[in-house]
Amino acid sequence: MKHLLDIRDISSGEINQILRKTDQLKKKREKPLQEKETVMIFYKSSTRTRISFEVGIRQLGGNLTFLSKQQSQLGRGETPEDTIKVLSRYNDLAIFRVHDHKDLVRMKKASKIPIINALSDLLHPCQALSDIYTIKQKKGNLKRINLTFLGDGSSNVCHSLINVAEKTGMNVKVTCPEEYEPEIKGEYKIERDPEKAVQKVDVLYTDTWKSMGEEDKNIDLFKPYQINREIVNKSKKDSIVMHCLPAHREQEITSEVMDGEQSVVFDQAENRLHVQKAILSLLNMDSD
Ligand code: CP
Ligand code: NVA
Repeated sequence: MKHLLDIRDISSGEINQILRKTDQLKKKREKPLQEKETVMIFYKSSTRTRISFEVGIRQLGGNLTFLSKQQSQLGRGETPEDTIKVLSRYNDLAIFRVHDHKDLVRMKKASKIPIINALSDLLHPCQALSDIYTIKQKKGNLKRINLTFLGDGSSNVCHSLINVAEKTGMNVKVTCPEEYEPEIKGEYKIERDPEKAVQKVDVLYTDTWKSMGEEDKNIDLFKPYQINREIVNKSKKDSIVMHCLPAHREQEITSEVMDGEQSVVFDQAENRLHVQKAILSLLNMDSD
């Protein structure tokens, strides 16, 4: 595995390797990043992704430098290509959180070191990889698991879940307003009626209705797609409820559900650390 911009860049075999390596690293500390330098540049806010990567890199024995976009010359217009060419001279790995996914693609073309996508407007692959680890942990397997995503089908998180489901045999249904369907090709079903969409499902998943950078979006259209007690009761008795977080309580999910017995959201957040450590361990950092 060289870069991780998109789940479609990696094979089902590599995904299984990540899941196995996660289990291994949870049992035994390893230091594969000793003497390796990682740079992280984030264009947008983050709690989970930034901290879990920073802690994970330190636990694996590596060093890191973090900059926000504004602290770097990217904030004053230096091109993504020039930036990554220079960063490749000092570092073994780069992790970026960007607005426009195209910036990542431009950097990948010019980079001599692996790049990890820590979220773009289009995709959130690290989230989806860690989410399937959580689903496997709670349900025992991924094949034939039925997951329904409720809310903003055009969100980066929904897109990456669709991508990862295709590689792992999960079935994804998306229930969302007509205006906010997924914007990627893939094997998923759309069901406009949220009550029908959650029947017999194992996993209910939601994300914020207003992603970062969408502050002016009108969220009224999303109201029928809230995860609340009534909706959860229409799914399987042993279904689990997931959210990538941060949550907007009483919008896309009620507190009653988020803090309830079927919610796995905090185990899900914890797994970001374990799974990202596996991803970091499996990256090929030998320079070209
Ligand atoms: N889920 C997630 O990526 O959270 P942060 O925005 O806090 O990193
Ligand atoms: N779709 C959300 C995910 C946050 C982790 C966003 O982009 O803001």
